[in-house]
Amino acid sequence: MPDWLITGCSELLTLRGSAPRRGRNLKDLGIIHDGALLVHNDRVQAVGRRRRVERLKEARRAEKLELGGRVVLPGFVDSHTHLIFPSTRASEYEQRISGATYEEIARSGGGIRSTMEQLRHASPEVLQQRALAHLSEFAAHGTTTLEAKSGYGLRWKDEFKILKVLRDLQEAQPLDIAATFLGAHIVPPEFRRRPHAYVDLLIRRWIPAVARAGLAKFCDVFCDRGGFTVAQSRKILTAGHAFGLVPRIHAEQITHTGASRLAIELQAASADHLDKLTPGDVRALALSNVVCTMLPGCCFHLGLVQYGPARQLIDAGAIVALATDFNPGTSPTLSMSMILSLACTQMRMSPAEAISAATLNSAYSLREHERIGSLEVGKFADVVAFEVADHREIPYYFGVNLCSLTMKRGIIIYQKKL
Ligand code: NIG
Ligand code: FE
Repeated sequence: MPDWLITGCSELLTLRGSAPRRGRNLKDLGIIHDGALLVHNDRVQAVGRRRRVERLKEARRAEKLELGGRVVLPGFVDSHTHLIFPSTRASEYEQRISGATYEEIARSGGGIRSTMEQLRHASPEVLQQRALAHLSEFAAHGTTTLEAKSGYGLRWKDEFKILKVLRDLQEAQPLDIAATFLGAHIVPPEFRRRPHAYVDLLIRRWIPAVARAGLAKFCDVFCDRGGFTVAQSRKILTAGHAFGLVPRIHAEQITHTGASRLAIELQAASADHLDKLTPGDVRALALSNVVCTMLPGCCFHLGLVQYGPARQLIDAGAIVALATDFNPGTSPTLSMSMILSLACTQMRMSPAEAISAATLNSAYSLREHERIGSLEVGKFADVVAFEVADHREIPYYFGVNLCSLTMKRGIIIYQKKL
């Protein structure tokens, strides 16, 4: 594979420096104007002003990639997706537009349960094909690493099917996928009258089996009304932790349950959604290392007016990340730049804050910040270019994809046709 000398970066956003970023440091993008990047094999070999990097002897041998004045940044790290699902839920979208709520639809057998029923009938081949198509779109929108959850199988053979598809996808395409076991998405219908028996099954059988097979890095719980209680979530995540699965948690999305405090208690890698946080929760999260992953795509798609308190979290010093929550029920988008637009316009994050939250801080939430999330010597050459000259124009434009180049570990995996 060739080495690359990337020049013509009107702004090279290096994100150099310490991870995670909190408070005022969140907006520190480490910008180099007229920057250049030298890539050797799968890594960043040099980064700096164009004139300095061009003069290096390795640069002379490298293939030249002159971008003609684009913003170049680390690939987006999408730290919350439900990648594997069999079909859309467009009919529920229409029902919600006519006034039904997400919870009403779920209670009448729609929602996660309807995706579960369809997934149970879907073959691994069909799921893999669908995911491959989505993954190439993720790449085309500038995402180079993503997290992906199980959670639409809710019986062993189908949860296993999803996790195996995720493992196979790792081999079948270039993006990195961090797998999360979300057996605790909802209580499946078979256990409706005895949820405690389902929790026991998760703890005694499925979590140990997932961990032993090395099928997931993280364990997640949907801790909310319609999902699992704080007490059940504590048991499940504690069991996961005992087997080496790092906790993540869906917290305070629909109702305030105390899930964010549980995340702090268990030192979870991240607490996600957080739309219903109290000021006390914000202060507590700010004192912790739990990454607060904001998912504004859900609020947008569900037509909600109350977005999560990202501004307060940042000002209080919490670690804030952004992700799509790509799923058929609440957030059918795989575009991180759209999430950035929502974060800026609806949650008053600055463009620079949103970019750090979507790269370095989300990498930190996946425990990958030493390898990805910034463009520094020795890190993976996961690099994207946007067809804009100023980084603020990435969230400024919305509903269009301005990503023009995606490089994953030194290999160009997407390039916009001229
Ligand atoms: O993150 N609310 C729980 N889980 C997903 C939605 C899944 C679905 O509706 O299919 C979420 O929003
Ligand atoms: Fe989710």
